[in-house]
Amino acid sequence: MILGVETSCDDTCAAVVARDGSIRSNVVASQGLLHARYGGVVPEIASRRHLELLDAVVADALEGADTTLDDAEVVAVTRGPGLIGALLVGVSAAKALAAARRLPLAPVDHLAGHVLASTLGDDPIEPPFLALVASGGHTFLARVGQPPDYEVLGRTLDDAAGEAFDKGARLLGLGYPGGAALDRLAAGGDPEAFDFPRSLPGDGLDFSFSGLKTALLYRVRDLGESEAERRGADLAASYQRAVVDSLLHRLRQALRRERLDRLSIGGGVAANSELRRRAGALADELGVRLWVPPIELCTDNAAMIAGVARFMEPIAYPGYLSLDATARVA
Ligand code: KG4
Ligand code: ZN
Repeated sequence: MILGVETSCDDTCAAVVARDGSIRSNVVASQGLLHARYGGVVPEIASRRHLELLDAVVADALEGADTTLDDAEVVAVTRGPGLIGALLVGVSAAKALAAARRLPLAPVDHLAGHVLASTLGDDPIEPPFLALVASGGHTFLARVGQPPDYEVLGRTLDDAAGEAFDKGARLLGLGYPGGAALDRLAAGGDPEAFDFPRSLPGDGLDFSFSGLKTALLYRVRDLGESEAERRGADLAASYQRAVVDSLLHRLRQALRRERLDRLSIGGGVAANSELRRRAGALADELGVRLWVPPIELCTDNAAMIAGVARFMEPIAYPGYLSLDATARVA
């Protein structure tokens, strides 16, 4: 059994995962509401809240798995990337938990967690495969050959796809984080009502979303407040269409170029209804099998972190006592 801890952003998470990839428990204490009133995550508040919540979340995860720390073989923890203060809370707690039982510790790359989320559960994806990770903080395509390693094929040069959804949602008056609300509003709109740019920089597999929110800003301004509100559903649907078009364009290119026939989509944006529907259609068209993990494995969670540790050689006690969190992972 592997005990996982994840505190890279604003969710306090712990989970227990077995060696075979089955998830015994997966506990997330979301701080979403705490940060919503500021319109974004406030790092200092996040760190302090992790500190308050983590003990109880770990206890919950162990209890939910009907186990105790005595049965854990390894403690896995997100080392980065993320908010440094938030990461430090998790890393310090994991070191203490592991050291108390002289257990080994696995420092996990948060992004590997998202990339490999589909290797968990009872229908795991097998390498080699293509992974699209689209979250509030990251958007990239990776080729997975030998987990936990992965090769980044392309990434966003500016905003993440989730960030594009959140900024669009804010411009449409939908609050923060607004991706899901924009998705719902878009359901009643015409995706071809407005023409938004699809920026596909360079001839590689990179993304760019920052021009899109500027285009929406100008469009809302041109329409004026009341007209923009009246056309909200059309604006949302057209904006969503542009984000998803860019993602799908790169997915298609990457699947062809890499000649892969297995695809996994993860990160919070994998909850988007249009992305799910059209990725499914693309997979059918290309004869590719698609994995979209359940939403609790797409958004930040500790099961995916414990999952990565299955593929790692952990650091034996006491070698990890000087381990530090890193805001960026090299
Ligand atoms: O993976 P996640 O928890 O983000 C990070 O921690 O980085 O995902 C959150 C992101 C937010 O940007 C949110 O607006 C977006 O995922 N999101 C969605 C949907 N549900 C969540 N974006 C578009 N459509 C959705 N249905
Ligand atoms: Zn994440």
